[in-house]
Amino acid sequence: MAKITLSVIKADVGSIGGHIKPSDEMIDAVKRYIKNKGKGIFIDFYVGYTGDDIAILSTHKKGVLNSKVHKLCWDAFLEAAKIAKKQGLYGAGQDLLKSSFSGNVKGMGPAVAEMEIEERPAEPFLFFAADKTEPGAFNLPLYLSFCDPMYTAGFILSPVLKQGFTFVIMDVAYTKADKIIKLNSPEEIYDIAALLRDNGRFVVESIWSRATGEQVVSASTTRLHNIAGKYVGKDDPVMLVRTQKNFPATGEILCPYAIGHYVAGFMRGSHAGPLMPVKKNSSISFFDGPPVVSCLAFSVRNGKLTGPVDVFDHPYWDYVRNKVAKKAEEIRRQGFSGQAMLPMTELEYTGVVETLKKLEKRFTIRKK
Ligand code: 13P
Ligand code: 13P
Ligand code: MG
Ligand code: MG
Repeated sequence: MAKITLSVIKADVGSIGGHIKPSDEMIDAVKRYIKNKGKGIFIDFYVGYTGDDIAILSTHKKGVLNSKVHKLCWDAFLEAAKIAKKQGLYGAGQDLLKSSFSGNVKGMGPAVAEMEIEERPAEPFLFFAADKTEPGAFNLPLYLSFCDPMYTAGFILSPVLKQGFTFVIMDVAYTKADKIIKLNSPEEIYDIAALLRDNGRFVVESIWSRATGEQVVSASTTRLHNIAGKYVGKDDPVMLVRTQKNFPATGEILCPYAIGHYVAGFMRGSHAGPLMPVKKNSSISFFDGPPVVSCLAFSVRNGKLTGPVDVFDHPYWDYVRNKVAKKAEEIRRQGFSGQAMLPMTELEYTGVVETLKKLEKRFTIRKK
């Protein structure tokens, strides 16, 4: 079977009316650029957006972190950023944090999720993109789908799934290099949970089948403030998940998104809000949110994509969206107070630091 690489590279390079959605002209520019310059690099591609983030999904034979693939996407985003600037859009070029391209886009702003796979005779996969949140937003859904028989019936019904999965988890607080740990389900699920509870620090980078050694999940781990040193937008993540056969079924991967769990992001990337599953090419609204996630299903054969199918475009998810909207309303009622706003460790990249510095001088120590 042929080796194929699935790549998603995603960036916010400007949006209409605030952090809402990119313009049609920007999307067209990205598609046109990839179509013209991608010949001989990509086998197939798909361009779409989630909130203000444009994602380029591609298939090719060049492996992960390939400079030609990454440069092509980087340059396509530059084209879109040029248009955003011309149209006076907000945050034109927001995620293009470096002025010159070097090797691959990791550490330059855009989010990346890639995996090189041995294509199965039938190769279904899911492409997730989230906006107004951070990479840790995928921690809980991945834990539930890859560790919990309450969500993945396959742990009871399939002897292959029962052998478990290896989680590769990154400590994103460590900025000098990639700091990772490998933990195995099912034996170490409590250790996995102990890390994944902290969405801001420990992030799932990939998941591998212990039965076959195959990679099942690749997720982005970029932290923009680590690159920029200040708040420049949230690290809206992307993720690829292969499904069926030796992996959880598509529906087992999707079902945790019915929770609408509270994640970091929302207004100014500084609040907690419930993650709402939305349809393809959805925009953003209420309080720059709520945090949203889209999911498109594809099949791939010899690198040729069939799809997408918009999996959250179904009456069941309308019901979920209503419930999640209620959760959003509930937490917004308490404004900046307590759990509704992120802790200072996350806010220290924003302007609130200046206020605290000023106020610190006005504090006095009362004499006993
Ligand atoms: P089929 O029997 O339709 O292939 O479905 C199997 C399955 O995995 C459903 O989750
Ligand atoms: P983005 O990270 O999606 O650009 O959103 C930034 C923001 O501050 C929204 O209020
Ligand atoms: Mg933005
Ligand atoms: Mg965004």
